[in-house]
Amino acid sequence: MTAKDIRQKYLDFFRSQDHKVIASASLIPENDPTVLFTTAGMHPLVPYLLGQAHPAGRRLASVQKCIRTGDIEEVGDLTHLTFFEMLGNWSLGDYFKQEAIAWSHEFLTGADWLGLPKDKLAITVFAGDADAPFDQESYDAWLKLGFLPDRIAKLGKADNWWGPAGQTGPCGPDTEMFYWTGEGEAPIEFKPSDKRWVEIWNDVFMAYNKEADGRFTELKQKNVDTGMGLERVATVLSGQSDLYQTDLFAPLIKELETMSQKLYQDNLKNFRIIADHIKAATFIMGDDKGIAPANTDQGYIVRRLIRRAIRCGRQVGINLESWTAKLAQTVIDEFGQTYPELEHNAKFILQNLHEEEMKFAKTLERGERELIALSSSQGISGANAFDLYQTYGFPPEMIKEIAAEKKLKISLETFDEDFKTALDQHQNLSRTAAVGKFKGGLADNGEATAKLHTATHLLLAALRQVLGEHVLQKGSNITAERLRLDFSHPDKLMPEQLKQVEALVNEAINQALPVACSVMKLEDAKSIGAMGVFESKYDQEVKVYTVGQANLPFSREICGGPHITNTKELGHFKIIKEEASSAGVRRIKAILN
Ligand code: SER
Repeated sequence: MTAKDIRQKYLDFFRSQDHKVIASASLIPENDPTVLFTTAGMHPLVPYLLGQAHPAGRRLASVQKCIRTGDIEEVGDLTHLTFFEMLGNWSLGDYFKQEAIAWSHEFLTGADWLGLPKDKLAITVFAGDADAPFDQESYDAWLKLGFLPDRIAKLGKADNWWGPAGQTGPCGPDTEMFYWTGEGEAPIEFKPSDKRWVEIWNDVFMAYNKEADGRFTELKQKNVDTGMGLERVATVLSGQSDLYQTDLFAPLIKELETMSQKLYQDNLKNFRIIADHIKAATFIMGDDKGIAPANTDQGYIVRRLIRRAIRCGRQVGINLESWTAKLAQTVIDEFGQTYPELEHNAKFILQNLHEEEMKFAKTLERGERELIALSSSQGISGANAFDLYQTYGFPPEMIKEIAAEKKLKISLETFDEDFKTALDQHQNLSRTAAVGKFKGGLADNGEATAKLHTATHLLLAALRQVLGEHVLQKGSNITAERLRLDFSHPDKLMPEQLKQVEALVNEAINQALPVACSVMKLEDAKSIGAMGVFESKYDQEVKVYTVGQANLPFSREICGGPHITNTKELGHFKIIKEEASSAGVRRIKAILN
């Protein structure tokens, strides 16, 4: 079964259970300032899990693009991936544990579906604690499906509780399904600590909300959120242990063998890192938001991924020009049919990879000069190597390599320790900053955010009036204090233009225009001229927000919300910054007083 077959079967199965299939949301969360990337299928659905009506209904299924950056340093083994695809189905206050478990079981074992042998499956359920009781209902449901008590483990919050995705928000006990990947028959007794049992699916029963004070309160709406990693399932079904040998990665590995003239089997770690990183970077840059390598936020992650891949490439002896772009082309060829945005943005992806390769080469040259200078003055230490790493992205392993090659003066005995001390210090600082950034949680649909959200629509409409119709939204990010809009436009805005834009927005506010929401088919939304990222591939219903008269609106956009209901609530709009975001993309930050 190819990855494509698995995606198709999954969506077909849930369609046959009355689910609406929704398209993967962007990898860059819309209006969620708390995280850089979409980390799970439920992530774009948080407002709906909290009770907002979803235009497609109460039973949803999707294949969601996800990025997790927490374990980038671990990539290279057989379990950590930066980019992955998550199959998921949701009940927004519709069905609950019985149906979710029965369907998971049928999809995994049914002859028409994945057809996995039941005797290789095992289960975990939530054991219960002070916050929530033992999940008896799930336990009984699995027993009824024929699982013996020996194959159902009861575990605590660390294992069988999922969420919230931020500091606060929807969460709940889960039940997880494991598959035996060891040789021969599976042991009768399931020991979750035995790594040959691999988790393949997670059904979360989101019946709780974690509050800011740490309490778990029951949600009015009882939801189901399930997640099955496509890469895991593809590996299990292929009967091999190495996910890089499944069709989700094999073409990349093959290409790398050709480029390096070396075998994967002799270079496992480097090949895996390169394949993972270039695939992830390709998907992020290919996501309609115009994210290019940069020194902050998502762009920084892209830069880090590309540069690490280039370093690993050097280690396996790849020295072709623009080779990362060539590899990205393979990613686009393999995944472009499923994710057409990759094809639309192919030029942008390849160009940025080409440029980043050249920039990194320059960085390395400059770093090398600095190293030679250091060597003839104080000598190279772990501490000043860290400065080089920070300033130029010059990696410590390469510093050691070059020092050896050029016979430079370096304190090798203390190098690693000094470097680590400097790094830890730096990470503590940035972790503190990251925690600050995370506060507020995903569930923050507050008044201030809604206002800034509506103001963002007004701003985009005003920019199009002043600058022209080529202006499209490339990204948006809202905190409690300000909005930030990235949009396509080649040049810096003149002060006069900024004034005009501000004036137009304030005029729309002063006219007290109504903000109306209607739900319609994507095709209809397009035909009435609604702006938005048309990444949906399925016949899908969307929300359209109209500001002003229905026949001649000031702004009309496809958007999930939330918004306020009349522009008069916005106060006074002020642009506080205009700057470049990436090539051909400008960024405006603005506030409401
Ligand atoms: N949110 C859960 C997960 O990511 C289930 O979808 O595993």
